[in-house]
Amino acid sequence: MLACPSALKVAQPLARTFHRQLNPALSSLAARRAASTSTSPSAPLPQVNSPASIFPDRVYASPAPEATVQNAHLSHQPLDTPSHPLPTMTKVDRAQQNAQHFAKIQRDFRTDTITMPTDEMFDLMRDASRGDDVYGEDAATNDLQDKIAKMAGKEAGLFCVSGTMTNQLAIRTHLTQPPHSIILDARSHVHLYEAGGVAMHSQASSHAVPPRNGHHLTLEEVLDNAVFGEDIHSAPTKLVSLENTLSGMVFPQEEIVRISDCMRSNGIIMHCDGARMWEVAAKTGMSLEELCRPFDTVSLCLSKGLGAPVGSVLVGPRKFIEKVKWFRKAFGGGIRQCGSLAVAANYCVDNHFQKLVGTHERATYLAKGLAAQGAQLLLPVETNMLWLDPSSIGFTISELAQRAKTRGITLGSNRVVVHHQITREAIDDLLALVAEMKEECKDRPRKEIDLEQNELYAQGQYTRNIEPPIARLGVHYGRNQ
Ligand SMILES: Cc1ncc(COP(=O)(O)O)c(C=O)c1O
Repeated sequence: MLACPSALKVAQPLARTFHRQLNPALSSLAARRAASTSTSPSAPLPQVNSPASIFPDRVYASPAPEATVQNAHLSHQPLDTPSHPLPTMTKVDRAQQNAQHFAKIQRDFRTDTITMPTDEMFDLMRDASRGDDVYGEDAATNDLQDKIAKMAGKEAGLFCVSGTMTNQLAIRTHLTQPPHSIILDARSHVHLYEAGGVAMHSQASSHAVPPRNGHHLTLEEVLDNAVFGEDIHSAPTKLVSLENTLSGMVFPQEEIVRISDCMRSNGIIMHCDGARMWEVAAKTGMSLEELCRPFDTVSLCLSKGLGAPVGSVLVGPRKFIEKVKWFRKAFGGGIRQCGSLAVAANYCVDNHFQKLVGTHERATYLAKGLAAQGAQLLLPVETNMLWLDPSSIGFTISELAQRAKTRGITLGSNRVVVHHQITREAIDDLLALVAEMKEECKDRPRKEIDLEQNELYAQGQYTRNIEPPIARLGVHYGRNQ
């Protein structure tokens, strides 16, 4: 019956009126639309389903963004000014803010990733190439990849946003189809701090081995955990992943070569998380090429000790790197106009790499100063990291961190990291604070420690097995202190 044209003429307006009565917001939208074509465009818009109207009991810290008919995409009006504009800062304000931040990080011992990019880096970044790296068309990125691959003695390199990404991409690309397993140090970043990526991306089981000497894995331990053969109950070992440095400790190269020779002759792939391989080169004087030789692939971070704002380069055989690009794409990890990041990273390779020797000297200076006061070092200080437990002089690491804050010094966990922008003054201030607290706490009970060994650790040496905890210290050790 309603198909009849005359009946439609009556029914449609009736239905519209009925609908508007049911929904006043739509009704006022229609009014707004009508008005917009003729009269005041700045008339206030009706609000539909604002968070405050849906949750009247909630307290909003700042006015909650209102859902209006505009952002409900019902209107063709031009958008009003956003309700939360970015704070406007002048160039001078920003420079002042950056200067304050720089002063802060010069006294921040939490990690070497918090260094700040410098003005020199930004000057270069402005003039960087602006090609699309997903198409492989950015000159600075290509140059950087080639340069780092050459330094590492490998055919090709691939710039990625992070060390986690280069590790995970490498492992994913090496491993094809399960069942398969990998061997790694139980304290390693790949095992503990990459969000379970090995299981998630590569469907591999992990044999996470705590080294008996507390310092590095040995061939014997790798062999103890390797799965060879065709037994269908087990997942064969396909890859060994080592980390160098690990917790600031240098993996002895001769042991890496032993592991690599044996594993590779059995068809097992060698990968290295060399996030801080630069520190090893600076410490030992060995070339990156020699350090990377025992590995099929190495992940080399640019944003740790070297101080680049972003980046890690995975190096390996050319064909392999071509395959990695597929996975990088699948991970959503391609960077389009990547040139400025590559230029910044390249600046760090050219200018900051050589600073690492000085960084290590300052770390040793701090370690010796702490050991002289009797504060316990938990691991040998071989590069830029210290692991500290001051309960041997009467107070906890948390107490130290709290007091340090009052002096503008930032400490995280037991891990104390010296980066290239930490000043000697910050180190002296930290040592002075420790001396002050030691004096204040002289009547408190103290943990007994082996002072001779402590002194050796301060010099980056050890003569016997390093005590557990086996789990990486930074997160698991002293959490409740
Ligand atoms: C040894 C090691 N490998 C890999 C990574 C991962 O690097 P990113 O934070 O760039 O993902 C880190 C990060 O601190 C690390 O310490």
